[in-house]
Amino acid sequence: MLIRPRRNRASKTIREMVKETILKPANLIYPLFLVDGEKIKIEVKSLPGNFRWSLDMLIPEIKECINLGIKSFVLFPAVEEEFKNSTATYSYNDSNFYLKAIKKIKETYPDVCLMSDVAMDPYSSDGHDGLVRDGKILNDETLPILGKMAVAQAEAGIDIIGPSDMMDGRVAYIRQELDEEGFKEVGIMSYSAKYASAFYGPFRDALDSAPKAGDKKTYQMDPANSSEALREAELDTIEGADYLMVKPATNYLDIIQLLKQNSDLPIAAYHVSGECAMLTAACQNGWLDYEKAMPEALLSIKRSGADVILTYFAKDYAKMLKEGKIEL
Ligand code: PBG
Repeated sequence: MLIRPRRNRASKTIREMVKETILKPANLIYPLFLVDGEKIKIEVKSLPGNFRWSLDMLIPEIKECINLGIKSFVLFPAVEEEFKNSTATYSYNDSNFYLKAIKKIKETYPDVCLMSDVAMDPYSSDGHDGLVRDGKILNDETLPILGKMAVAQAEAGIDIIGPSDMMDGRVAYIRQELDEEGFKEVGIMSYSAKYASAFYGPFRDALDSAPKAGDKKTYQMDPANSSEALREAELDTIEGADYLMVKPATNYLDIIQLLKQNSDLPIAAYHVSGECAMLTAACQNGWLDYEKAMPEALLSIKRSGADVILTYFAKDYAKMLKEGKIEL
């Protein structure tokens, strides 16, 4: 036998030398759920280890994450039902606690990178990402609302706008609105290939944002499609996106790879709530070893071509790295 691949796995030193994929905490974005009020830290039942935070409790939590090496966060608001309406006006209202929180976090920690969510669902009495009329999700009528939301977030100090709504033309619309208002340096991470997935359940529990009627299949993509992901990616690129995102991640590694091979833009992947919840549940049952399975799942996303990973495991990953439980 001339060729023996096992020689390159013979010792830890050799394995480290030939390791192809390295995942650093700097590649991770940590999703955080915000609620209005004080002294609130309520665990999301379907996403153990994740909480709805009031700002006062979140500030020290962010400090802890920074000390572990996590410096990028994506924020989502859990809005009280009384502030929701059909046109999501609270999303750009000055009194919105989410906007105030962005401002406060950036004032407290100017070096963190904060990403927002742009979509109507957390603020919509219909629970859809776009405007609903006669059971239909309207595209063009939704764009001005998304534009106002994005500008309000930019005014609050956000670094990256995250349109997760899947309306056609929204990246160009938001880019133009931001530029007109002088926010040329605020980036856009577009949820380019966002699928109509069953794996968003725990997230919708966290925000009470599930659709009141119907599903999201007229705007989110069919899990059966991959050419369509290229089409969406191409459009977002032309429209001025700074990053392209694939969502979910582990069930869509082929799509991540496809976009990576066909784009010069950084590729992000959202390791969504249901994917994290599945793994956590198996680990809590003793069926999988969290400290081994979790880093392996994140590594697979990086290996497939994601430059940036949004994951609920970000803090734990950074902590394990600090404790020497993961080697780069
Ligand atoms: C809302 C939004 C969703 C997620 C991120 N932004 C839910 C949805 O589209 O219904 C899901 C994230 C997750 O499951 O972790 N537009």
